[in-house]
Amino acid sequence: MKSPILELQDINVRYSGLPVIQGLSMEVNQGETVCVVGSNGSGKSTLLRAIMGAQRVFGGKILFKGKEIHRQGTEAIVKLGIVYVPEEKMLFGPLSVKENLLLGAYILEDRGKILQNLEAVYALFPRLKERAGQPASTLSGGEQQMVAIGRGLMSNPEILLLDEPSLGLAPILVDEVLDTVGKLKRKGMTILLVEQNVREALGLATRGYVLQTGRIVAEGTGGELLESDLFRTAFLGI
Ligand SMILES: Nc1ncnc2c1ncn2[C@@H]1O[C@H](COP(=O)(O)OP(=O)(O)O)[C@@H](O)[C@H]1O
Ligand SMILES: [Mg+2]
Repeated sequence: MKSPILELQDINVRYSGLPVIQGLSMEVNQGETVCVVGSNGSGKSTLLRAIMGAQRVFGGKILFKGKEIHRQGTEAIVKLGIVYVPEEKMLFGPLSVKENLLLGAYILEDRGKILQNLEAVYALFPRLKERAGQPASTLSGGEQQMVAIGRGLMSNPEILLLDEPSLGLAPILVDEVLDTVGKLKRKGMTILLVEQNVREALGLATRGYVLQTGRIVAEGTGGELLESDLFRTAFLGI
């Protein structure tokens, strides 16, 4: 039996009183890559920010390994092992790739452990090792996304929340970045991915949810969703 590592039960989020996430329930099991797909403005980033304690949740519950986390602050949530890689990447351009990666280990104190994590990130993304000393701003969009993901991995998270890692990238880089997510999946990382690149994201997901104006309107395996009528009319226009 799989038990959810992350569980959202009937949560609501509002901006200035306006509902943005409504009665949303979902779960992520250990080792799964769960993908939430939805068009621009459907509430994907809000959902991830709510999990991270950066957005107030009205009603409902968010549980991590069975314990409530929706009243905790972001730092406490990160320390529990939940890491968020934001849409905006938030790299420090003038700092080197290595320095950017090390920033992700801020919750760790053991120097040996930090270097071990750095080597693990380099093993996953050899290109970042080659470019370790270069300012992050000199990297391509796809490489910068690898730095953002690598920085997230530096604290050894139990679950990684990825906010549209392919956003703004040329198609060839989209594939490269999503391949990276596939690599993490194969290594056993638990991932919650939100994406507008519906086909590619569902192609690599264990399971997916479709978000429309803050509500889950469908769920299933990637294949089931891609085949469903609702999905085909909503996203593929067929
Ligand atoms: N800080 C904010 N204040 C008010 N409204 C917001 C804020 N952030 C997002 N919204 C609105 O909430 C809805 C969901 O936004 P968002 O979660 O960013 O969607 P997505 O990530 O799916 O594009 C949108 O209608 C957006 O305009
Ligand atoms: Mg967003």
